[in-house]
Amino acid sequence: MSPSKPRRFRRLLLTGAAGALGTVLRDHLPALADVLRVSDRAPLGEARDREEVVPCDLGDAAGMLDLTRDVDAVVHMGGVSGENRFADLHHANILGMYHLFEGCRKNGVARVVWASSNHAIGFYPRTRTIDATVPQRPDTAYGLTKAFGEDLAQYYQDKYGIEAVSLRIGSCFPKPVDRRMLATWLSYPDLVHLVERSLLAPAVGHTVVFGVSANQESFWDNRAASALGFRPGDNAEDYRAEIEASTPLVGPDDPLVRYQGGQFTAMPHADDEPD
Ligand SMILES: NC(=O)c1ccc[n+]([C@@H]2O[C@H](COP(=O)([O-])OP(=O)(O)OC[C@H]3O[C@@H](n4cnc5c(N)ncnc54)[C@H](O)[C@@H]3O)[C@@H](O)[C@H]2O)c1
Repeated sequence: MSPSKPRRFRRLLLTGAAGALGTVLRDHLPALADVLRVSDRAPLGEARDREEVVPCDLGDAAGMLDLTRDVDAVVHMGGVSGENRFADLHHANILGMYHLFEGCRKNGVARVVWASSNHAIGFYPRTRTIDATVPQRPDTAYGLTKAFGEDLAQYYQDKYGIEAVSLRIGSCFPKPVDRRMLATWLSYPDLVHLVERSLLAPAVGHTVVFGVSANQESFWDNRAASALGFRPGDNAEDYRAEIEASTPLVGPDDPLVRYQGGQFTAMPHADDEPD
């Protein structure tokens, strides 16, 4: 994001701002807004220039109503970010999404860009290229909460006109570190670019896209993201030699290579007692 561009928003809200992706976005979103309101339940440090720090738990309905007041658009990165006990997922990813969208409805927020996950469709086989219109096939209770979030976003678009972009993020890390990420990696610069396009593209309705770089091995048809103006600049292929030298080759029945959700498809239920 070039700092010379005119700032498009008066106030943007970033949730999950203390998390891995929130930390990346916190550095870049000020280019788009006069004020960036950052929120999390984890410590956020001192407010920076043109920033407001507003701690809030996603499970707190009244707090979320306050958090979304006087905001033009939301980048929602907050939530439980992997498989976990259902009670924790329910609190942050189900109640939290509901409170966020209710706050947006009551406060007239125009658009939400939020982190869904590839684990909403993780049980598709890797041999099949899918686009973002196929039915969801969650691979974990975590993925199930992301599928719920996508349905919630569609409902609030259809019924209340709130625009939303659901980002089915693949694997967003500084660099790919295993063989699955040769297909699913999203670089930090491409994340920032995708969020920027999702905030600025006109008339998105509710759009579901994949958050993935221009990886040669990708099994996702990401034309919906192209339509937003997303032009990823990175490709996991650049790391293939490094990854193949440092990670074992697995057989065709291993969940890592069988399903798009990789090892999440083989995780035990998080509420089961360990043997
Ligand atoms: N990093 C990836 O590769 C990836 C892939 C797919 C989806 N995602 C999604 O992107 C989002 C950000 O991912 P991340 O890697 O930065 O995760 P993260 O765990 O580093 O950050 C999530 C943040 O949400 C906050 N949070 C959790 N529960 C909360 C609650 N009840 N109230 C307020 N804040 C709460 C946490 O404190 C944390 O700072 C998550 O929703 C995650 O599911 C990430």
